[in-house]
Amino acid sequence: TVSKISKCPVIADLRPEDEPYSKVFTTNPANFFEQLRQQENLCQITMEGNFPVWLITKFDDAQQVLKDPRFTKVPADARDRTSPTYDPENEAPIYRMTEENMLSRDAPEHSRLRSLVQSAFAPRYIQGFRARIQQVADELLDKIQAKGTGQMDFVEEYAYPLPIVVLAELLGLPHHDREKLRIWSEVMMELRITDSNRQALEDASIGLRNYLKEVFVLRREQPGDDLVTALLEARNGTDKLSEEELYAMVFLLIVAGHETTAHLLGNSMYTLLANPDQLAMLRNDPALIVPAVDEMLRHSGPVLTSTMRRASTDIVWGGVTMKEGDGVLVVLSSANMDATKFTDPQVFDIKREYNKHIAFGFGAHFCIGASLARLEAEIAIAAMLQRFPDLQFDPAVDVLEWRNNMLIRGLRKLPLVF
Ligand code: HEM
Repeated sequence: TVSKISKCPVIADLRPEDEPYSKVFTTNPANFFEQLRQQENLCQITMEGNFPVWLITKFDDAQQVLKDPRFTKVPADARDRTSPTYDPENEAPIYRMTEENMLSRDAPEHSRLRSLVQSAFAPRYIQGFRARIQQVADELLDKIQAKGTGQMDFVEEYAYPLPIVVLAELLGLPHHDREKLRIWSEVMMELRITDSNRQALEDASIGLRNYLKEVFVLRREQPGDDLVTALLEARNGTDKLSEEELYAMVFLLIVAGHETTAHLLGNSMYTLLANPDQLAMLRNDPALIVPAVDEMLRHSGPVLTSTMRRASTDIVWGGVTMKEGDGVLVVLSSANMDATKFTDPQVFDIKREYNKHIAFGFGAHFCIGASLARLEAEIAIAAMLQRFPDLQFDPAVDVLEWRNNMLIRGLRKLPLVF
């Protein structure tokens, strides 16, 4: 939660009804970020706990920050038990599961952890999932059709279940409890721990941990051709993945791979229906699905901002001086709307010529699951359009509700008729 906004002239104009600040991020972020991109100086916000954070909204700045090693994931003194900012709670399993993973680490630990799973995400290997993803999509569509109502909630019945089945198979998670994975990952995506969500977060992390513990026992007894088995072997090998890192790795893959992909599907379907000319073009030429998914990522990508970086030293940037320890948040969805990079950025154009967006991030932490996410979206959207030639927004529903989350942009429900 953002408690205070400072050093940011545009935000001074915000009307009271735009508060809390996170709503501006989530409900209609486009105008807001456009104003920030016009500003010379960077804007600073204050996160809960009095923690100043700089917002990076322009494309060139975004790329530069994401590849600049002075911006790190771990503040220099975070692990120093003698430091005044050291928090012993950081040693609790719930925190460690969210911290001891590659996304929360800098080189060299980051490179070591990433290299352990890199090959499982190589595009050529991922292509091997094509037939299975198609099958999962077809089964979900059969179920929707079999209801005989001519209605569906695209998010609930299609976008959410598809990536969780794919992830479960990639990782080698047994069938039972897959539904719970969705609940756990949704809770844990809230990321920031407050008094009101602490209990839910702890329950989710304990539930997930116990589940993973069982999975590890099972895969030790019955190794499979899957990522968990490979990671268990790495745990015993020279790469020395610690037990805590093992939990953290699988946790990260589930959380990073589920809601992101689900909301890419939801946002894509929404954007296509809201742009009937583009939808018609895609229906006429299904091969356009590949550039169309790229445009969906740029225009309506599910990840609003990068995860937090910290300035490891004082840094002069964009007319301001960032102090050592300040937070830096790269607003990826804003960078992807930067008119200095993309022609008519607000226009959804599936035949866009130049489209080198950063919806999957940039630099060392570039999304490892990008090929998988693209493949899932290409197959899932194409299958949906093919099955239902007359797909439309449900006319009985006037208002679509967006999730109120600073990291993820996505619809809670997308009721459609066919
Ligand atoms: C990192 C976006 C799907 C696994 C990232 C980052 C972004 C991103 C922006 C960088 C975050 C940062 O630098 O702070 C997306 C989007 C997806 C998607 C938009 C779907 C549309 C997936 C999938 C998986 C995955 C399917 C795995 C199954 C990861 C991992 C990282 C990551 C492990 C951390 C990489 C590292 O730290 O080196 N993703 N992601 N993502 N993503 Fe994805």
